[in-house]
Amino acid sequence: MNPQRRPLVVGNWKMHGNRPANTELLAAVAAARPFGADVAVCVPFVYLTETAAQLAGTDIRWGAQDVSAHAQGAYTGEVSAAMLAECGCRYVLVGHSERRQHHGEADELVAAKAQAALGKGVTPIVCVGETLEQRDAGQTEAVVKRQLAAVIRELAHCAAEMVVAYEPVWAIGTGRTATPEQAQAVHAVLRSQLQAASGHGERMRILYGGSVKADNAAALFAQPDIDGGLIGGASLKAADFITICRAAR
Ligand code: PGA
Repeated sequence: MNPQRRPLVVGNWKMHGNRPANTELLAAVAAARPFGADVAVCVPFVYLTETAAQLAGTDIRWGAQDVSAHAQGAYTGEVSAAMLAECGCRYVLVGHSERRQHHGEADELVAAKAQAALGKGVTPIVCVGETLEQRDAGQTEAVVKRQLAAVIRELAHCAAEMVVAYEPVWAIGTGRTATPEQAQAVHAVLRSQLQAASGHGERMRILYGGSVKADNAAALFAQPDIDGGLIGGASLKAADFITICRAAR
């Protein structure tokens, strides 16, 4: 963590939760404030309004897990950036590996989604990461650079406004986390790419995601180019998520 950048911890609830559980979780996290980091939760679309109502008056932010690349129109099932903005979203995940994998999202679509979000004042958290096969083939750097380059190209002068999340696919939901050194090495590559492209790499936040837990968060966040985390499973348990939020400062 670098003092130039305020750390950020984002919970990615994925397709989990229900009203009573959400209320209890958010109340516990809100009660644990203040944190030394920015904290946000990315919840299923249908819970955005009530999440907004429950978090109003706190400094915890909320966001969505996906956004349409289109402004409006005949796109059944999609949700626009303007709608997210209307729900008070500060963030939206784009290009999560589960979207790339299960919904065939290519780099160009991810870039268009990031642009749509920024156009409505919602900060895209752009996820990049390699599969195990790609890592074993020595392609990690090339893969993440290609994924990020597509977004940088599309956002052009606004690129500095996004947040980047490095999430090795092999570490997501597997309990197999990247070592702090493995993660740091990729973060450093991404930061120099951002710096070269935008001139603002030093002030941009790059989160690590993939089996971040209460007991490994501090070591990951201690790395100079890791500015916080994108937390899946552990963000659903109040005590664990709070511990992780406290580890980022
Ligand atoms: P995980 O998920 O923490 O459960 O590995 C992270 C993510 O997919 O964002």
